[in-house]
Amino acid sequence: MMKAVVIDRYGPPDVQSVRAIPRPLARAGEVRVQVHAATVGRTDTATLRAHPFFMRAATGVFRPKMKTLGMDFAGVVDQLGDGVTGFGLGDRVFGISPDVFGAHAEYLCVSAKGALAHIPDILDFDHAVVGEGAWYAEETTKLLSEGTRCLIYGASGAIGTASVQLAKANGAHVVAVVGTRHIGWPERLGADRTLNYEAEDFTAIGETFDLVFDAVGKTSYFECRPLLKKNGVFSATDLGAGGSNLLLSAWYGLTGSKRVQLPFPADTQGFFQRLANLMADGRFQGVFDRSYPLDDIVEAFRYVEQGQKTGIVVIKVR
Ligand SMILES: NC(=O)c1ccc[n+]([C@@H]2O[C@H](COP(=O)([O-])OP(=O)(O)OC[C@H]3O[C@@H](n4cnc5c(N)ncnc54)[C@H](OP(=O)(O)O)[C@@H]3O)[C@@H](O)[C@H]2O)c1
Repeated sequence: MMKAVVIDRYGPPDVQSVRAIPRPLARAGEVRVQVHAATVGRTDTATLRAHPFFMRAATGVFRPKMKTLGMDFAGVVDQLGDGVTGFGLGDRVFGISPDVFGAHAEYLCVSAKGALAHIPDILDFDHAVVGEGAWYAEETTKLLSEGTRCLIYGASGAIGTASVQLAKANGAHVVAVVGTRHIGWPERLGADRTLNYEAEDFTAIGETFDLVFDAVGKTSYFECRPLLKKNGVFSATDLGAGGSNLLLSAWYGLTGSKRVQLPFPADTQGFFQRLANLMADGRFQGVFDRSYPLDDIVEAFRYVEQGQKTGIVVIKVR
């Protein structure tokens, strides 16, 4: 048996309970990971509440299909399914489990060909649970290359802090927009300039960008339009007011200009190896807010739901 956080229905954080359930067994092509650290991210909180409602088409119409949430994990491989290559017993690994979740537990099984990589030697487990924010950021920052210019709005969340670093790794010039309490962070992560949205109008700086990324779902295409170059792209993490980003991305997709994008990450196996390399080189680091023991999972969800965290909230499983 193992200790795991279990959900039987959608709802607020306290529908979760910590219980003893059977340990999963690695199937062909899977590794079983003894989880040391996990996170509570916005995907977990949105899935628990089934918000937006249509997400139920993927996660279960009446009840959640997955019994345990938790997308990010870092831990040790303790069982190998048939045919696994590239990983061995005792390997320290990190990754995400975007389809079935399951990291809020002492063990989970994931595909060895999925979003999984070895933890660089310099990092402990608590500092390796960086996958979710980086994975969402990558779908947008991969549009950037050497010499391009981007503005990242909301550069203090899990996706925003990852975006700054991935954009710099791609050679872009980065202007980051954060609130007063986060001034200083973006430049430590490599940003070329930081703007304070509480003190100045970031849309009136008189500069234009190849990419404007709303990494926290708090601005809009229409507000940011003056910042875009002629062929510039606006990308957002959220659907926008009244689903505006969804509608605009569908419209611009039809016209072929792709001016507004609502990227949904593809399952990029190679990305996690690249992320591990960037962390080993010191070019990517997680930004961590606080940690909770697994038993305090309800408190962790309540905190993350406030939308005020700085980077990542860690769950210490072991
Ligand atoms: N539906 C899903 O499954 C899903 C999954 C992942 C992410 N997302 C979306 O992606 C977005 C980012 O996720 P995340 O995990 O990176 O977010 P997060 O970590 O929760 O972001 C919180 C950060 O945003 C800042 N912030 C709050 N209001 C702001 C504003 N008006 N302008 C600029 N910054 C503001 C906060 O700092 P200050 O308040 O001090 O500025 C805080 O540091 C979220 O909006 C989330 O809805 C959705």
